[in-house]
Amino acid sequence: MTLALLSADQLRACPLFQSLDASDLQLLLERQLHTLIGVDQLLVQEHDWGETIFLIRDGLAKVRCFSPDGEEVVLSILGPGDLFGEMALIDEQPRSADVLALTELNLVKLAGAPFRQLMLNRPALSLAIAKLESQRLRTLNRRFAIHSADATTRLLNALQELACRSREPQDPLAPIPALAQRELAALAGLSRETTSRTLSKLRERGLLEENAMGLRLLSLEPLRRRGLL
Ligand code: CMP
Repeated sequence: MTLALLSADQLRACPLFQSLDASDLQLLLERQLHTLIGVDQLLVQEHDWGETIFLIRDGLAKVRCFSPDGEEVVLSILGPGDLFGEMALIDEQPRSADVLALTELNLVKLAGAPFRQLMLNRPALSLAIAKLESQRLRTLNRRFAIHSADATTRLLNALQELACRSREPQDPLAPIPALAQRELAALAGLSRETTSRTLSKLRERGLLEENAMGLRLLSLEPLRRRGLL
Protein backbone atom coordinates (compact mmCIF):
# COMPACT_ATOMS: atom_id res chain seq x y z
CA MET A 1 0.00 0.00 0.00
CA THR A 2 1.43 3.41 -0.98
CA LEU A 3 0.62 6.41 1.27
CA ALA A 4 0.95 10.22 1.19
CA LEU A 5 4.45 11.55 0.54
CA LEU A 6 6.62 13.15 3.22
CA SER A 7 7.10 16.92 2.86
CA ALA A 8 10.37 18.80 3.38
CA ASP A 9 8.91 20.40 6.55
CA GLN A 10 7.98 17.00 7.97
CA LEU A 11 11.49 15.69 7.29
CA ARG A 12 13.04 18.79 8.93
CA ALA A 13 10.96 18.08 12.05
CA CYS A 14 13.18 15.00 12.52
CA PRO A 15 16.16 16.24 14.67
CA LEU A 16 18.61 14.42 12.40
CA PHE A 17 17.69 16.57 9.40
CA GLN A 18 17.10 19.91 11.19
CA SER A 19 20.27 21.49 9.78
CA LEU A 20 19.44 20.83 6.10
CA ASP A 21 18.10 23.52 3.81
CA ALA A 22 15.09 23.12 1.51
CA SER A 23 17.09 21.94 -1.54
CA ASP A 24 19.00 19.33 0.53
CA LEU A 25 15.72 18.03 1.97
CA GLN A 26 14.22 17.88 -1.51
CA LEU A 27 17.21 15.86 -2.72
CA LEU A 28 16.65 13.30 0.05
CA LEU A 29 12.91 13.12 -0.65
CA GLU A 30 13.13 12.80 -4.43
CA ARG A 31 12.81 9.01 -4.60
CA GLN A 32 10.88 8.45 -1.37
CA LEU A 33 8.53 5.50 -1.04
CA HIS A 34 5.98 5.54 1.75
CA THR A 35 4.53 2.16 2.82
CA LEU A 36 2.51 0.37 5.50
CA ILE A 37 4.27 -2.74 6.77
CA GLY A 38 2.64 -5.69 8.56
CA VAL A 39 3.73 -7.17 11.92
CA ASP A 40 6.76 -9.53 11.75
CA GLN A 41 7.73 -8.38 8.25
CA LEU A 42 11.48 -8.40 7.64
CA LEU A 43 12.62 -4.98 6.44
CA VAL A 44 16.36 -5.42 6.36
CA GLN A 45 18.27 -8.70 6.41
CA GLU A 46 21.69 -9.11 7.99
CA HIS A 47 24.49 -9.71 5.40
CA ASP A 48 22.42 -8.35 2.48
CA TRP A 49 23.75 -5.40 0.52
CA GLY A 50 21.49 -2.35 0.69
CA GLU A 51 21.27 1.14 -0.77
CA THR A 52 18.21 2.37 1.11
CA ILE A 53 17.64 4.17 4.43
CA PHE A 54 14.35 3.94 6.31
CA LEU A 55 12.51 6.44 8.49
CA ILE A 56 9.82 5.18 10.88
CA ARG A 57 6.78 7.49 10.97
CA ASP A 58 4.68 5.28 13.23
CA GLY A 59 5.02 1.89 14.94
CA LEU A 60 7.84 -0.14 16.48
CA ALA A 61 10.61 -2.26 14.95
CA LYS A 62 13.31 -4.45 16.47
CA VAL A 63 16.93 -4.80 15.46
CA ARG A 64 18.19 -8.34 16.00
CA CYS A 65 20.87 -10.86 15.20
CA PHE A 66 21.39 -14.52 16.10
CA SER A 67 23.94 -16.04 18.48
CA PRO A 68 26.16 -18.86 17.11
CA ASP A 69 23.76 -21.40 18.68
CA GLY A 70 20.77 -19.88 16.86
CA GLU A 71 19.27 -17.84 19.70
CA GLU A 72 17.68 -14.50 18.78
CA VAL A 73 19.44 -11.51 20.36
CA VAL A 74 17.54 -8.20 20.32
CA LEU A 75 19.97 -5.30 19.91
CA SER A 76 17.55 -2.41 19.90
CA ILE A 77 13.98 -1.18 19.58
CA LEU A 78 13.19 1.57 17.09
CA GLY A 79 10.13 3.82 17.01
CA PRO A 80 8.62 6.97 15.45
CA GLY A 81 11.29 9.36 14.14
CA ASP A 82 14.01 6.68 14.13
CA LEU A 83 16.20 6.17 11.09
CA PHE A 84 17.74 2.81 10.19
CA GLY A 85 19.75 1.26 7.38
CA GLU A 86 22.38 4.02 7.54
CA MET A 87 25.26 1.79 8.69
CA ALA A 88 25.64 -0.15 5.40
CA LEU A 89 25.80 3.18 3.59
CA ILE A 90 28.33 4.73 5.93
CA ASP A 91 30.79 1.84 6.12
CA GLU A 92 29.98 0.34 2.68
CA GLN A 93 29.53 -3.09 4.24
CA PRO A 94 26.56 -5.48 4.15
CA ARG A 95 23.66 -4.90 6.57
CA SER A 96 24.81 -5.31 10.17
CA ALA A 97 21.59 -6.84 11.55
CA ASP A 98 18.00 -7.81 10.74
CA VAL A 99 15.27 -5.20 11.23
CA LEU A 100 11.68 -6.48 11.67
CA ALA A 101 8.31 -4.85 12.29
CA LEU A 102 7.19 -5.41 15.90
CA THR A 103 3.86 -3.67 15.22
CA GLU A 104 2.27 -2.36 12.05
CA LEU A 105 4.72 0.22 10.68
CA ASN A 106 4.27 3.39 8.73
CA LEU A 107 7.60 3.69 6.96
CA VAL A 108 9.40 5.95 4.48
CA LYS A 109 12.19 4.52 2.30
CA LEU A 110 14.76 7.05 1.06
CA ALA A 111 17.50 6.58 -1.54
CA GLY A 112 20.90 6.09 0.09
CA ALA A 113 23.08 7.84 -2.52
CA PRO A 114 21.87 11.44 -1.81
CA PHE A 115 22.07 10.75 1.94
CA ARG A 116 25.72 9.69 1.58
CA GLN A 117 26.45 12.67 -0.66
CA LEU A 118 24.94 15.07 1.90
CA MET A 119 26.95 13.45 4.71
CA LEU A 120 30.13 14.24 2.74
CA ASN A 121 29.12 17.88 2.17
CA ARG A 122 27.18 18.83 5.31
CA PRO A 123 29.21 18.54 8.54
CA ALA A 124 26.10 19.28 10.67
CA LEU A 125 24.35 16.22 9.21
CA SER A 126 27.42 14.04 9.77
CA LEU A 127 27.63 15.24 13.38
CA ALA A 128 23.92 14.48 13.90
CA ILE A 129 24.50 10.93 12.58
CA ALA A 130 27.55 10.54 14.85
CA LYS A 131 25.35 11.60 17.82
CA LEU A 132 22.71 9.06 16.78
CA GLU A 133 25.29 6.24 16.70
CA SER A 134 26.65 7.41 20.05
CA GLN A 135 23.16 7.30 21.63
CA ARG A 136 22.64 3.81 20.18
CA LEU A 137 25.93 2.65 21.66
CA ARG A 138 24.89 4.02 25.06
CA THR A 139 21.56 2.14 24.90
CA LEU A 140 23.35 -1.03 23.83
CA ASN A 141 25.91 -0.63 26.66
CA ARG A 142 23.03 -0.48 29.11
CA ARG A 143 21.36 -3.56 27.61
CA PHE A 144 24.70 -5.37 27.87
CA ALA A 145 25.18 -4.38 31.53
CA ILE A 146 21.63 -5.38 32.42
CA HIS A 147 22.05 -8.83 30.89
CA SER A 148 23.41 -10.19 34.17
CA ALA A 149 20.69 -8.52 36.31
CA ASP A 150 17.65 -10.30 37.80
CA ALA A 151 14.56 -11.07 35.67
CA THR A 152 12.47 -8.17 37.05
CA THR A 153 15.16 -5.60 36.24
CA ARG A 154 15.58 -6.99 32.72
CA LEU A 155 11.86 -7.01 32.04
CA LEU A 156 11.40 -3.50 33.49
CA ASN A 157 14.22 -2.24 31.28
CA ALA A 158 12.60 -3.83 28.19
CA LEU A 159 9.19 -2.32 29.09
CA GLN A 160 10.78 1.08 29.66
CA GLU A 161 12.57 0.94 26.28
CA LEU A 162 9.30 -0.01 24.55
CA ALA A 163 7.38 2.81 26.25
CA CYS A 164 10.07 5.40 25.49
CA ARG A 165 10.32 4.33 21.84
CA SER A 166 6.53 4.30 21.36
CA ARG A 167 6.12 8.05 21.33
CA GLU A 168 7.88 11.41 21.51
CA PRO A 169 8.75 12.93 23.96
CA GLN A 170 10.11 9.79 25.60
CA ASP A 171 8.02 8.69 28.59
CA PRO A 172 8.62 5.42 30.51
CA LEU A 173 4.94 5.45 31.55
CA ALA A 174 3.59 5.77 27.97
CA PRO A 175 1.30 2.95 26.72
CA ILE A 176 3.10 0.00 25.11
CA PRO A 177 1.34 -1.62 22.14
CA ALA A 178 0.14 -5.22 22.59
CA LEU A 179 3.00 -7.58 21.67
CA ALA A 180 3.25 -11.37 21.72
CA GLN A 181 4.79 -12.57 25.00
CA ARG A 182 7.59 -14.26 23.00
CA GLU A 183 8.58 -10.76 21.79
CA LEU A 184 8.76 -9.39 25.32
CA ALA A 185 10.81 -12.44 26.34
CA ALA A 186 13.24 -11.89 23.43
CA LEU A 187 13.55 -8.16 24.23
CA ALA A 188 14.33 -8.88 27.88
CA GLY A 189 16.56 -11.89 27.07
CA LEU A 190 14.39 -14.16 29.29
CA SER A 191 12.53 -17.44 28.77
CA ARG A 192 8.79 -17.18 28.07
CA GLU A 193 7.99 -18.85 31.41
CA THR A 194 10.11 -16.37 33.39
CA THR A 195 8.61 -13.47 31.41
CA SER A 196 5.07 -14.64 32.12
CA ARG A 197 5.84 -15.14 35.85
CA THR A 198 7.54 -11.74 36.14
CA LEU A 199 4.71 -9.93 34.33
CA SER A 200 2.19 -11.50 36.78
CA LYS A 201 4.34 -10.38 39.71
CA LEU A 202 4.46 -6.79 38.42
CA ARG A 203 0.67 -6.79 37.85
CA GLU A 204 -0.04 -8.17 41.34
CA ARG A 205 2.13 -5.42 42.87
CA GLY A 206 0.14 -2.77 40.99
CA LEU A 207 3.18 -1.72 38.95
CA LEU A 208 1.84 -2.77 35.54
CA GLU A 209 -1.51 -2.42 33.80
CA GLU A 210 -2.61 -4.71 30.98
CA ASN A 211 -5.61 -4.26 28.67
CA ALA A 212 -6.59 -5.05 25.09
CA MET A 213 -4.46 -2.13 23.84
CA GLY A 214 -1.30 -3.43 25.51
CA LEU A 215 0.74 -2.72 28.64
CA ARG A 216 1.63 0.33 30.71
CA LEU A 217 4.03 0.80 33.60
CA LEU A 218 2.22 2.59 36.43
CA SER A 219 5.11 3.88 38.50
CA LEU A 220 8.63 5.20 38.00
CA GLU A 221 9.61 4.04 41.47
CA PRO A 222 10.77 0.46 40.55
CA LEU A 223 12.80 1.91 37.66
CA ARG A 224 14.47 4.43 40.00
CA ARG A 225 15.17 1.77 42.63
CA ARG A 226 17.00 -0.35 40.03
CA GLY A 227 18.97 2.57 38.58
CA LEU A 228 17.09 2.36 35.27
CA LEU A 229 16.22 6.06 35.13
P1 CMP B 1 22.40 -1.37 8.51
O1 CMP B 1 23.59 -2.12 9.01
O2 CMP B 1 22.44 -0.78 7.16
O3 CMP B 1 21.13 -2.37 8.59
C1 CMP B 1 20.68 -2.78 9.89
C2 CMP B 1 20.38 -1.54 10.67
O4 CMP B 1 20.01 -1.75 12.02
C3 CMP B 1 21.67 -0.70 10.83
O5 CMP B 1 22.04 -0.22 9.55
C4 CMP B 1 21.23 0.32 11.84
O6 CMP B 1 20.40 1.31 11.27
C5 CMP B 1 20.38 -0.57 12.75
N1 CMP B 1 21.16 -1.04 13.91
C6 CMP B 1 22.15 -1.97 13.94
N2 CMP B 1 22.61 -2.12 15.20
C7 CMP B 1 21.91 -1.28 15.97
C8 CMP B 1 21.91 -0.97 17.36
N3 CMP B 1 22.74 -1.57 18.23
N4 CMP B 1 21.05 -0.01 17.81
C9 CMP B 1 20.19 0.60 16.96
N5 CMP B 1 20.14 0.35 15.64
C10 CMP B 1 20.98 -0.58 15.15
